[in-house]
Amino acid sequence: MNIILLGPPGAGKGTQANLLVEHHGMLQLSTGDMLRETRKADTELGRRVAAVMDAGELVSDEIVSAMIDAKLSDMGDEVGAIFDGYPRTEAQAHSLDDILAKHGRKLHHVIELAVDEDALVDRITGRFTCAKCGEGYHERHKQPAQQGVCDKCGSTEFKRRADDTEETVRTRMNEYRAKTAPILPIYDARGIVQRVDGMAAIDDVTTAIEKVLASA
Ligand code: AP5
Repeated sequence: MNIILLGPPGAGKGTQANLLVEHHGMLQLSTGDMLRETRKADTELGRRVAAVMDAGELVSDEIVSAMIDAKLSDMGDEVGAIFDGYPRTEAQAHSLDDILAKHGRKLHHVIELAVDEDALVDRITGRFTCAKCGEGYHERHKQPAQQGVCDKCGSTEFKRRADDTEETVRTRMNEYRAKTAPILPIYDARGIVQRVDGMAAIDDVTTAIEKVLASA
């Protein structure tokens, strides 16, 4: 099964994608994660990507679509894909159609996480992750059981994303409204959009997504 998780920054796409990977052995294709790997490299491309991300703007359609195509080429046909943070523009949505056709895949669901934007700034500016295993935490909603120690791997190193400042989050939300929300009608017209309440507790969001998957 191939699905898109769609929603503004902080809607919970990454959180839910991780859970689907755990429960169903699907593969998470997060263009945000791929770009964070790219920016680590001391190359011209890495520096350009870092500047765009830190401004909260969108990286070029060609770059991200090429990344998705390459990832699908490396995946076994039997593994389901979770598109997290892709597509984000109409051009990317059309590229995804071409890429899926090329790989003999079909899109089963577009799951829109419906959220209250005011809550998202708090979600994003408070989040941090374990520097070693990537487990996600939040200053107010999800602290490690033992202060300063990762619940999952015991590491004491944590990190924050460079683009998780309030100002950048506002730009990212504007980008979502202007360029990403307009792709929903493309999928609505195909009858494959399912809306899930992204303001519910994480487990309840997962349950709602599981219901959508079971309805296929
Ligand atoms: P990307 O990494 O994709 O970031 P994003 O879309 O802004 O989304 P986030 O990762 O911030 O949020 P999320 O929805 O995954 O929420 P999360 O689960 O972490 O993109 C970053 C940048 O890369 C872009 O700005 C752009 O520059 C570039 N980029 C990426 N893809 C691109 C593309 N296709 N084209 C062009 N450019 C691209 O949750 C957030 C927090 O809330 C966590 O602390 C979590 O624990 C908490 N939380 C989650 N769910 C709940 C809940 N139900 N209740 C309470 N708390 C919750």
